[in-house]
This record gives sequence, C-alpha cells and structure tokens, in this order.
Amino acid sequence: MPRELARGVTLLFTPLTLRGTTFANRAWLAPMCQYSATDGSPGDWHLVHLGARAAGGFGLVIAEATAVVPEGRISPQDTGLWDERHVAQWARITDFVHARGAKIGVQLAHAGRKASTHRGFDGQRGSVPLDDGGWETVGPSASAFPGLAEPRALTAEQIEAIPVAFAAAATRAHRAGFDVVELHAAHGYLLHQFLSPLSNDRTDDYGGPLENRSRLLVETVDAVRAVWPSDKPLFVRLSATDWVEGGLAVEEVGLVAKELGAHGVDLVDVSTGGNAPASIPVGPGYQVPAAREVREASGLPVAAVGLITDARQAEAVLVEGSADAILLGREGLRDPFWPLRAAHELGVATGALPAEPGTADVVEGTSATGWQAPYVRGAWT
Ligand SMILES: Cc1cc2nc3c(=O)[nH]c(=O)nc-3n(C[C@H](O)[C@H](O)[C@H](O)COP(=O)(O)O)c2cc1C
Repeated sequence: MPRELARGVTLLFTPLTLRGTTFANRAWLAPMCQYSATDGSPGDWHLVHLGARAAGGFGLVIAEATAVVPEGRISPQDTGLWDERHVAQWARITDFVHARGAKIGVQLAHAGRKASTHRGFDGQRGSVPLDDGGWETVGPSASAFPGLAEPRALTAEQIEAIPVAFAAAATRAHRAGFDVVELHAAHGYLLHQFLSPLSNDRTDDYGGPLENRSRLLVETVDAVRAVWPSDKPLFVRLSATDWVEGGLAVEEVGLVAKELGAHGVDLVDVSTGGNAPASIPVGPGYQVPAAREVREASGLPVAAVGLITDARQAEAVLVEGSADAILLGREGLRDPFWPLRAAHELGVATGALPAEPGTADVVEGTSATGWQAPYVRGAWT
C-alpha cells in the first residue's frame, strides 16, 4: 500500500528507528570496497571516503566488506576487523562520522572461494598467485567460481570457526564505535556460497535442503547477535536471486529472511547476483521488485539498492512501500553530498549547510536554516 504523507513531508528525510538506534534519514551509503587498506587497516582514504558522505548528509554510511579473518579478504587491499589493532583505526573514522550526526555501519565479510583476487584497478584480473601475496581459498565445496582458483572444501570443524570469527569481529566493531553490523551474505561470498545450490554440493548438515544451506548464516547471526548490543541493529545483505536457472530464487530468499528476523536480524539489505555469471536486466531500480518481495515475505524492514540515483525515484520507492531505506552506491561515489542535493530538490530543510544570516536553504516550505545554528545536523524539519 502506498503510504500517506502530509504535504511538505518526505519519507526519504523521515528518521527511522531500529532497536535503540535512530537514523536521521533513509538515504544511506552502500558498502563499497575501496581496495586501499594495508594489512586490513583502514587509513586516511577511508576516513575521507566515509567522512565526506557523512558530511554530505547520509543518515547511515556502511563501511565496505571488512574481513573477519585475513583469508576472508576479497583482495589483499581489503579492510579487516580480525585484529585488535583495527579497533583504534576504525574508531578514528566512527568518531568523525558521529560528529557529523550520521550513523556508521560495517559490513562483516568472508569472501570464501572469491577471496584472494586482484583488486581490479591495477589492470590485473583473477586470483592473486600464492607467490605474489595470494592465499589458498575455501568454500562449501571444492568448486571454483569461473576464472578463479579452486577452493578447498571447509571441514565441519572449520565451519564451526566461521560464526566465532564473525562474532569476534562484531565485538571489535562495537568497541570501534560502529552503530550497525551488516553481515555480507550476498554477491557470491562465503555465506551466499553456502546458501546457493550453485556453489554448495555438501551432503552433510550444511548442504541440500534450504534449511541446511542457510544453517551457517543462521548460526552466524546467532553468534553475532549474542555479542552485538541489543540496542544496535543487525543487518544482513542477501542476494535475492542468482539470476540463474537452478540457483537461488526470491521465494527461497524470502523464507530465509523471515527466519533471520526470528533470530534477531533487524533489516535485510536486498541485492542480487554475484555467485555465478548471469545475464542481469540492469536498469534504474532493477532490484527494487526483489526488495519489495523480500519485505512482504519476511515482514522485516528492507533497504533497496541498485541504480537508484534520483531524489524523486528514491522517494517513490519508499512511498510505494517497496523499501524502508535507500542505499546508494556509485551515485554516492560521484556525489558525496547527494542527500543535501536531494533534500533541496524535494524541498526539505536539512539544517546541515552553513547559511548567510537571513537566507534559507529552502525558499518555500517549513523552517529555514538561520545563521544561529548553521551546522546543526539531524533536525530534519
Ligand atoms: C567500487 C564498488 C565497491 C563495492 N563494494 C561492495 C562491498 O564491499 N560490499 C557489497 O555488498 N557491495 C559492494 N558493492 C556493491 C554496492 O554496494 C551496490 O550494491 C551496487 O553498486 C549497486 O548499487 P548502485 O547502482 O547504487 O551503485 C560495490 C560497488 C562498487 C561500485
């Protein structure tokens, strides 16, 4: 059902509260690997990348796929939270983001059979050789992602260690000041590899029917929820479809999402694909129908992502009831100040911009931003 709104009010700039955490608006920055870390350590680049988007008005910025163990990195240049030294490095960034009035999440990840790959912008593709800083990868089964090295199938004992590693990273994420943990169970990385019949040939409790294929994800959610504070939201990113006959389909993913809700997940970030080469009908808002289906099937709040680039488009996705929040990826890279521009276009006074005395950042509308409180954020009047 489309939601009814009072005149001059937008959903995009209406706060959202999950557990004890309130996001000032629903324009959020999607997690995006920067491939710029050394030994998992975020640095100045990450501070500027995430800090600029917080200053630009995003209500939540989600730090990139951050490895829970070194061998879980997509590339040698990924960020991590597997070591105590990462806590203080991230805390510098979370402090800066909080001072701008935004919330910050981290996407915890294990890349499984898609780990140890070249970062892409060095002109090299595929797996990094073992003698050039690469490492042996693991997965549910010894079947390679096309073009990458063959992984080793995880033993039952090694599977047990995965939720433990995620929980330890979540504990560090809390101490580093993150407001949200998102588990990366999409795009063909380890948790998705277990979920999808395309990459999981196991015959034990972790393979076969959906209940078994989702076991590692549910166990990981339980382990993280047990250590992640009860007032902080837990998100999961899922690929709602593999876009391949015989692969994961949205009906199954809706069931998984519902189960995750029963285990304390607060929001599903609905993406698609990444576990197999596929022909994907990419276009504006192409993943929004999947977000809507997962929302309806699970009863959970969802975030929509994928070629949502325009303020009115984003607002429409929320108003039509397809999603509860909007994540921007590439458009957020092009325009760190997208939310401020969107607010201006939608006639919303954000109070986020410095203003000359007597001027207003919205000419027609509700309150204008006076010079008295030029830098106050979070008051989306
Ligand atoms: C440079 C780059 C890095 C990305 N890294 C991640 C990542 O770390 N984790 C993830 O789940 N998705 C990642 N993505 C996917 C984005 O989060 C997003 O889902 C995708 O770009 C589609 O949204 P968009 O059309 O707004 O860009 C990345 C995308 C880009 C462009």
